[in-house]
Amino acid sequence: MNLRVVRTAREIRGAVSQARQSGQSIGLVPTMGALHQGHGALIERARAESGCVIVSIFVNPLQFDRKDDYERYARTFPADLEFCRERGVDLVFAPDVAEVYPGDQRVYVDAPSLSEHLCGKYRPGHFRGVATVVAKLFNLVQPDRAYFGEKDAQQLAIIQALVTDLNFPIVIVPVPTVREHDGLALSSRNARLNPKERRSAAAVYRALRAAENNLGAGASAAKEAAIAVLQQEPTIRVEYFEIVDPETLHPVEGIRGPVRIAAAVWAGETRLIDNIYSAGTGRPIP
Ligand code: PAJ
Repeated sequence: MNLRVVRTAREIRGAVSQARQSGQSIGLVPTMGALHQGHGALIERARAESGCVIVSIFVNPLQFDRKDDYERYARTFPADLEFCRERGVDLVFAPDVAEVYPGDQRVYVDAPSLSEHLCGKYRPGHFRGVATVVAKLFNLVQPDRAYFGEKDAQQLAIIQALVTDLNFPIVIVPVPTVREHDGLALSSRNARLNPKERRSAAAVYRALRAAENNLGAGASAAKEAAIAVLQQEPTIRVEYFEIVDPETLHPVEGIRGPVRIAAAVWAGETRLIDNIYSAGTGRPIP
């Protein structure tokens, strides 16, 4: 089947109801474009599980806390279409801003407790923008399943809470982080790194692993081990490095069970985030 591109709410609803009438299940992969193999993993998983695979491409102004970041965000639509075509996507939904936000947005979706720490603390309004646009996409597309990367673990937790707490009949499928050979998580923002920053950026994953290896000594010692790794890189500035409860996303001190270890750093002018899940130490630490 050919890849179809639709731009309006009316067209996407029509296309989805046609697919449903022919008995297909609907899988949605929400993206902001500039597609890379991280997105590719989500699309491939959706392709394997769904009759009709829809990729949305929309750079959502509501979730950018900095205007320059919104304006500089990579827009590579023709290459994105080719990327989707190669992976057997059925539909690309690429609305413009006026289609998604035709008037003042009067209602928002907020997850205050899940947004308190990690990126939520440093990017005010970001997750409110994400949760609100994802709720819109869910209502426009009404998929059976929607695919999100563990790379953005706080986003994933908030979307999981959104469907549970607001009763969206949608299954959220988490997909593991896709990495470069040196461990750097794939991201649209990696293209902005100069060669020196690119080399230093690999330290983020090494730092996450260093923290994991030191969990037995407690969260503070584990964080110190990780920060020591990052401090060896002069082009890296740490925004946060946290060890959190994977459900509440609140920092833990004593490690009693599974944790998520998460970091945000600046490599020059580029902000990078990454995280890993760890089953913990297997024994209670005071
Ligand atoms: P975007 O950054 O384009 O990411 C789209 C999806 O791809 C997200 O679920 C993200 O977690 C996943 N992803 C990105 N890099 C990945 C990697 N290296 N490995 C695995 N998955 C990866 O996240 C957004 O867009 C937006 O906030 C959105 C949810 C579309 C709402 O606007």
